[in-house]
Amino acid sequence: MKDVILTGDRPTGKLHLGHYVGSLRKRVELQNSGLYNDIYIMIADAQALTDNADNPDKIRTSILNVALDYLACGIDPTKTTLFIQTQIPELTELTFYYMNLVTIARLQRNPTVKSEIQLRKFDKSIPVGFFCYPISQTADITAFNATLVPVGEDQLPMIEQAREIVRSFNLTYGETLIEPKAMLSGNQACSRLPGLDGKSKMSKSLGNCIFLSDTSETIKNKIMNMFTDPEHLKVEDPGHIENNPVFTYLDAFCTTEHFQSFLPEYAHLEELKAHYQRGGLGDVKIKKFLNNIIQEELEPIRTRRIKFENDIPYILDVLKQGSLNARETASQTLSKVRHAMKIDYFHNSSLL
Ligand code: TRP
Repeated sequence: MKDVILTGDRPTGKLHLGHYVGSLRKRVELQNSGLYNDIYIMIADAQALTDNADNPDKIRTSILNVALDYLACGIDPTKTTLFIQTQIPELTELTFYYMNLVTIARLQRNPTVKSEIQLRKFDKSIPVGFFCYPISQTADITAFNATLVPVGEDQLPMIEQAREIVRSFNLTYGETLIEPKAMLSGNQACSRLPGLDGKSKMSKSLGNCIFLSDTSETIKNKIMNMFTDPEHLKVEDPGHIENNPVFTYLDAFCTTEHFQSFLPEYAHLEELKAHYQRGGLGDVKIKKFLNNIIQEELEPIRTRRIKFENDIPYILDVLKQGSLNARETASQTLSKVRHAMKIDYFHNSSLL
């Protein structure tokens, strides 16, 4: 059986470096590997509405921004089906049926849902739709028979929950759905890139991001003002690389070629880290090195984005066509689901 890949992002703003190393970079690699015929990337607007119900304008304007970020990173609509979640109503119907297979207690145990509830201060007023979004995410994955879901670390509980729902569905109604697997990208630093402030995650709501569309000047300022080791006051002081986002970003981006191009006094990252830990290496020097690396990575993306920004009708066409194609597949899955659940009453007059 050939693997089918599906993944997506919530359109709540422009995409940032965390999305890029956590998932986008890997998607482009997978797309260009030629190993997969079916790759779906979904703009999860219905999911974004689960905690932004009062702000439809934000979601609406973010759709184009996210699509532009995708294409700028190298997602190619001739190889990847790019679509918008709400344009596939079959996903809503699947979600409704899957809800019967999940308990409230199980949703409450989902660690990602738990931490998002805290982060959003929902406390006792959790919207039902938000609470159920792992179920809707299972619909997204299963509707397209996805076997592999490239995601960041925070999404692992979602994939686990999807696997449970699939098993429960197949056990109850007969073998129908395919159990997906998560696919993490790169190392630990990539799967969970911290924010510029060193906080656990780069996130738009925490205001600690480098956006893919930032100008080179903005990127430089952000990097030069990044949080580092607060105990590393003087150059001579020994420094800590743990919880020091500058080093985490280097873990995520830096290669030995970068040393040859930008910092030839060191052979590799281990040597740079050792010097920092011993003392005698200033933050400014490392930040300048990091800036060179990030600029080199983001420059071609920014240039392509500007090109696509000049042809919005093309982007709309890509999304429309992608959504039409995606809908065909989802509706086939829905037919199978209805059949398995014995609610296809009028198919071949089967109720009679
Ligand atoms: N929850 C994902 C995120 O916040 C977005 C998403 C929605 C998704 N549906 C998906 C990811 C299906 C993978 C598969 O980034």
